[in-house]
Amino acid sequence: MNNREVIVLSNLEELSRAAAEKFVELAQASAGGGYSFKVALSGGATPKSLYALLANESEPFRRAVDWGKANFFWSDERCVPPDDEASNYRMANEFLLKPLGISPANVHRFKGELEAQEAAADYERILRLIFNTHDSLVPRFDLIFLGMGADGHTASLFPDSEALDEADKIVAAPFVEKFLKFRLTLTPPVINRAANVIFQVAGTDKADVLREVLEGEYNPRKFPAQIVNPKSGKVFWFLDEAAAEKLILTRKYENFTGRLRR
Ligand code: 6PG
Repeated sequence: MNNREVIVLSNLEELSRAAAEKFVELAQASAGGGYSFKVALSGGATPKSLYALLANESEPFRRAVDWGKANFFWSDERCVPPDDEASNYRMANEFLLKPLGISPANVHRFKGELEAQEAAADYERILRLIFNTHDSLVPRFDLIFLGMGADGHTASLFPDSEALDEADKIVAAPFVEKFLKFRLTLTPPVINRAANVIFQVAGTDKADVLREVLEGEYNPRKFPAQIVNPKSGKVFWFLDEAAAEKLILTRKYENFTGRLRR
């Protein structure tokens, strides 16, 4: 996969710093063209330190981005209200959006408090409006952030999920057996229409699945993160050493940047 770059850093803090540099590079490139920078944020625990780094006044990243030009969306969400501690919106708001003082007009969250199918239809309507894409046209994000679970899921595309087969809708509300709950997620057609995708994956508990995802047989029903392959875009895998410890082929044959010396 020549649109894929794998970058291994010594730990989560260094991983977040490298991902922040890539974020700034992409945001500046987009702003340089006078466009609004449309980015989908990921949830879970791993992105917290990146968000905090981008908003940190004593770090260089905050001053390097024209935040007024950035529009924020989410790759997925839990079916909870925005003030719930499980809310991906709440996490990003606390670590990134509020500290940066991002205008609410530039923040486009899933309404996790609504009934799942209604929330998915609502978000599809919002995306189509903002991206000005109707019918079969698929919105093109400048950047989509993703994580990966130890089961190989990404966004809320879990193993054997019906959302993996979604070809028309841009937002889905799959029922996740594992949690006996619905989730809200961007679908593969949208993720694979993005100009850039950044995965952040850390921790030894993900090493086995990461090797399957990056080096194993193609089986996205079992390893949903494998479905991410933007047709005219790039994928950046920012990994820490612990998550990358089982990678073999990638180190040898791919756009692989060993541990960056800082
Ligand atoms: C979510 C996420 C999900 C996440 C992975 C990894 O809502 O949970 O968006 O896809 O990225 O579960 O989560 P951690 O970073 O917490 O390991």
